[in-house]
Amino acid sequence: MQLDAIMAPTADTPERRAFYDKIDKKNLTALWLSLAELVTPEPKSACAPASWRFNDIREYMLEAGNLITAKEAERRVLVLENPGLRGQSKITTDMYAGVQLVLPGEVAPAHRHTQSALRFVLEGQGAYTAVNGERTVMHEGDFIITPPWAWHDHGNPSSDPIFWLDGLDIPVVQFLDASFAEHLDVDEQPILRPEGDCQARYGANLLPVDHKTGGGTSPVFNYPYARTREVLEKMRRSGQWDPCHGLKMRYVNPITGNHAMATMATFIQLLPKGFSTSAYRSTDATVVVPIEGRGRSVVTNRAGEDFVIEWTKRDIFVVPSWHRVRHEAGGGRRAVFLFRQANPGSSAPVPGGPRQCLRAKTNS
Ligand SMILES: [Fe+2]
Repeated sequence: MQLDAIMAPTADTPERRAFYDKIDKKNLTALWLSLAELVTPEPKSACAPASWRFNDIREYMLEAGNLITAKEAERRVLVLENPGLRGQSKITTDMYAGVQLVLPGEVAPAHRHTQSALRFVLEGQGAYTAVNGERTVMHEGDFIITPPWAWHDHGNPSSDPIFWLDGLDIPVVQFLDASFAEHLDVDEQPILRPEGDCQARYGANLLPVDHKTGGGTSPVFNYPYARTREVLEKMRRSGQWDPCHGLKMRYVNPITGNHAMATMATFIQLLPKGFSTSAYRSTDATVVVPIEGRGRSVVTNRAGEDFVIEWTKRDIFVVPSWHRVRHEAGGGRRAVFLFRQANPGSSAPVPGGPRQCLRAKTNS
């Protein structure tokens, strides 16, 4: 009640208007005019539900491939702009996403920047990403990390084009006015360690004896889909399904147990064929990428309007903060596997918490 009282609009009078005009000249403004927009009773995001068909993106990307090389573009990427945030290079309020294409024989040259980046491979295999002196070969469904200020380049010695989702924390770094970037004087960085070195050191329940814990990014920079999928396939045998999530796992930094990246959370989710989730809402604005299977999701905004998104493998869609969402896995032969890129979420002490499974309401 007290909060509602704070949100009540104030009356406009000639004396008040004259006062506002006077203080405006001194770069001052009255809080009581904007408080209701600044401190909202619930999250009120300009980010809108949205979806993109991979087949459309693929066609445009190949067209872009005829217009510009990966080297000239530096990164040949089509940015996924949220329709509620056009012109800002944002897919959600705090995340950037795009789809990158590297054609056979091309190299996207080495650079580094303060923004963290993730790659989720959509189509193709045999290309590589090099991070800080180690290469990893990319396969469909692999989740690959580029930590902040890590040298990285991408090359495609295979005979097929490769497409992946790029997810970056560009809006967060922009918000903090902390963007730095530089280029290496060669396209491909020197390789200092054999492939799989970081996986062996940090991804096998072992650590180098003198390893010091530190840093917000996982030292494992490739989470191969083959391993992730095997984990989910083993776990599904228990038949234990969360009503809102089915089977959902976090990608973690194996040293700290925190998210694999400090500024973006990532998840992999399995829904058995025909499974319908209960409604769920959270402040974790999310980009969802089905990597196997097909289905549909219903996203409901604060006004109660439903956005129905039909999706199949490699499509990309957005669930904004505090929007209810239900997922329905198709009834085909395959289970559904969903990759999710989200903000790391808040732990706000609101009633019910910032993540709510709305099972009772859905069934009523
Ligand atoms: Fe980069």
